[in-house]
Amino acid sequence: MDLIELKRTLAEIPLGRIHYFDRIGSTNSEAARLAEAGASDLTLVVADGQTAGRGRAGKRWTTLPSTALAFSLVLRVPAEDRAHYSQFATRYTALSALAVCDALEQNYGLGTHIKWPNDVLVGGRKICGVLSEASWLGDRLQAVILGVGVNVFQGGVPHDDEVDYPATSVEQSLIDSRESNIAGINTIDRLVFLKEILSQIIGRRPQLLKPEFIRTWEQRLAYRGRWVEIVTLGRDNVVRGQVLGLEQDGSLQLKDADGKIFKVSSGGVSLREVENQDDRPISHTIKTDQVNDGQQNT
Ligand code: BTN
Repeated sequence: MDLIELKRTLAEIPLGRIHYFDRIGSTNSEAARLAEAGASDLTLVVADGQTAGRGRAGKRWTTLPSTALAFSLVLRVPAEDRAHYSQFATRYTALSALAVCDALEQNYGLGTHIKWPNDVLVGGRKICGVLSEASWLGDRLQAVILGVGVNVFQGGVPHDDEVDYPATSVEQSLIDSRESNIAGINTIDRLVFLKEILSQIIGRRPQLLKPEFIRTWEQRLAYRGRWVEIVTLGRDNVVRGQVLGLEQDGSLQLKDADGKIFKVSSGGVSLREVENQDDRPISHTIKTDQVNDGQQNT
């Protein structure tokens, strides 16, 4: 990967300036710096490898060179949308997750789900994580940085015993889906894949604040109808419920054992599937968010 190749592959996409790094700490940090300095809408930062990649809730996100896609896109927020941002913040995360789902399904025939709020799963394993961050100038929202990390090749995927949520790559998923892979695709070009994801983000962006956006997201939601346990991090608050769907603000809607409907917002929670309302958790922990405990890409 290099800047010339990147610019050639992305030539038809209406992006702002493209920044490429062989190695960088975090593309999100660089994009935030550029946004603060006035970078235009759809400025793109891409890195072949990250040395200090960041995940949600202070987790680390490792990007080994030449194994993954790691990029950040600056979305300038129109003045009329700024006042609604807190209500719609989670949608920005979903915009990227949905784009990755669509790119994987439409071009590679892979079935995907979104583990609320931000993880893309293929075959029940995490293939992509999204970190969206707001960039403020004083109390004025300037831009949202969409940070996307996709495990493309298996060499960059941590082993199951290193993580508490199993991960996979596009490469491995194509091998696993060989029999159902009618398109017969078994290789992946990272730049073409990046182009496909960016086209999906830009194409869906006009729907971001519409009610249908939530319905589209909901159709991809993992664990619908199943029992999950949600822990609010930093608090001793554990709730169990059956996943019903999503609220308009992107909160997860659940039903408890008494049939009462309640919602959980995305900040600082972990979620895992359980067998039923009073049973023990099944197999692995399923986390949507996690305090930094040294684990990576989970
Ligand atoms: C998560 O699952 O916790 C989110 C991971 C997001 C990782 C991406 S890689 C590109 C961008 N730069 C970062 O530092 N983080 C995001």
